[in-house]
Amino acid sequence: MLNTAIKAARRAATVINRASFDLDRITVSEKEHNNFVTDIDQAAEQAIVETLLKAYPDHAILGEESGPSKNLNDESEYAWIIDPIDGTTNFIHGYPNYCISIALQQKGVITQAVIYDPVRNDLFTATKGAGAYLNDKRIRVRNPDRLAKALIAANHGPEPRALAEFLRMYETVHPRCHGIRASGSAALELANVAAGRSDGYFEKGLKVWDIAAGALLVTEAGGIVGEFNGESEYLHKGDIIAAGPKVFAQLVTLMAPFA
Ligand code: IPD
Repeated sequence: MLNTAIKAARRAATVINRASFDLDRITVSEKEHNNFVTDIDQAAEQAIVETLLKAYPDHAILGEESGPSKNLNDESEYAWIIDPIDGTTNFIHGYPNYCISIALQQKGVITQAVIYDPVRNDLFTATKGAGAYLNDKRIRVRNPDRLAKALIAANHGPEPRALAEFLRMYETVHPRCHGIRASGSAALELANVAAGRSDGYFEKGLKVWDIAAGALLVTEAGGIVGEFNGESEYLHKGDIIAAGPKVFAQLVTLMAPFA
């Protein structure tokens, strides 16, 4: 199943890469304020769904652009959770930080994850219980012993009303760490934590397709993923902190007023 997901991600990447050479030709619509979808998101999702359903016709699908398939329900044995371009705003602007995110949920548990960054040709994969990999090499979170030694990532979604709270969280964390980065792709932020390229990440208001694959990468790389209060319902809630165990504990303490 992981191999099928990799094949699907590579097909989507072909669609995305071809379009990235001529961004003036893509069609952009605004779903809501500053939340965009392009014809390339839709074409990439179609390529992914076709590849997955050819191999597994009975599996359910939850796609960012196509929504839930008719057979998706709480009891679904297998459901694929797909974000064809996580970081669509970056893609539209030619800002080279976006990826394809595909996760497999089996009876409510995420068991396979693929995140493919078509710009850097970075393929992140994870299988529950079998570790996380970047281009076939095992990856692990960096796990510094203190937030004071950590590089943190934090993003803010398109929802303007949440900006004031985000700025307060930023002010709380920034003086206590090496710095905060915001790359505009939740899935890549999680992949970066898993690969030890950053030491922690927080964001509120995400959707399940932004985080399902990345969360498995982090936990399989030895990290912790939780809600702002440290609990584990983050896939449904959409508020997420991910880090190595020590930084995670410090971030949860600091974020208590925002939980
Ligand atoms: C977005 C990205 C971004 C996050 C937004 C998401 P999309 O996903 O993950 O980092 O801040 O909240 O909507 O729309 O580009 O798939």
